[in-house]
Amino acid sequence: MVTVLTIGMIKEAADFIRSKTNTTPKVGLILGSGLGVLADHLQDAVSIAYSEIPYFPVSTVEGHAGELMIGSLNGTPVVLMKGRFHMYEGYGPELTAFPVRVMKELGVSALLVTNAAGGINTSFNPGDLMLISDHINLTGTNPLIGPNDSALGVRFPDMSQAYSRRLRELARTTAKQQGISVQEGVYAGLLGPTYETPAEIRMLRTLGGDAVGMSTVSEVIVARHAGIEVLGISCISNMAAGILDQPLSHDEVMETTDRVREQFLNLVLAIIPDMANG
Ligand code: HPA
Repeated sequence: MVTVLTIGMIKEAADFIRSKTNTTPKVGLILGSGLGVLADHLQDAVSIAYSEIPYFPVSTVEGHAGELMIGSLNGTPVVLMKGRFHMYEGYGPELTAFPVRVMKELGVSALLVTNAAGGINTSFNPGDLMLISDHINLTGTNPLIGPNDSALGVRFPDMSQAYSRRLRELARTTAKQQGISVQEGVYAGLLGPTYETPAEIRMLRTLGGDAVGMSTVSEVIVARHAGIEVLGISCISNMAAGILDQPLSHDEVMETTDRVREQFLNLVLAIIPDMANG
């Protein structure tokens, strides 16, 4: 079922958020499993529970807190989602991406999306950070299904540079300066909540996927529709199904994201100020 989210609803959610803070955020951040640590570094932070914000869904996954935070990171005003919405929770794609619409309304021009993902590319290792160069939307749906309001974006948005080359270069250069090696590759976005079968992982590799996960694609589609520049970073939290002779677990995902927390944090903190200057 498609929930039609109108401009009026977007403005209402944004007005509510504005009533809680005087900060006008320039950069939006959506932090995936175990990567919410960035929130601890916000200065002058205002935190708003998702449950308070008009039309916001509430996230239900372990390891995903449900708060929107506004403040400044390294001198840059940001809005940060601590925890995101996934389609496997039962939300339609348009709802999982609703916060991106609200971010745009608040003034955001660049978005950082992060996630935990399984490594399909066998040259990757758990703990690697991967700059997302592109995605394959395998969710079988799209957040832009339904009537298009041209005030929000065009009917048929271009996706040929979904992930900004400028921001990827910025991230690569910054990582190099910090002595962090980063991978780069294609994120295959699936619905979940099951992890994939080994046969599905072989299929995804054939299709050109380097990493696989259950988020991000709907948020990025809506961001591009809204003209927001996107940087995506996956933390390779495990090798995808069938690569190693061991079962996958959410605990492994959380353990790995914990382990790379510092690296991830340093990289993102250094990039944010330049993200705002698009
Ligand atoms: N598959 C799908 N989603 C994931 C994985 C995976 O292996 N690891 C973390 N998120």
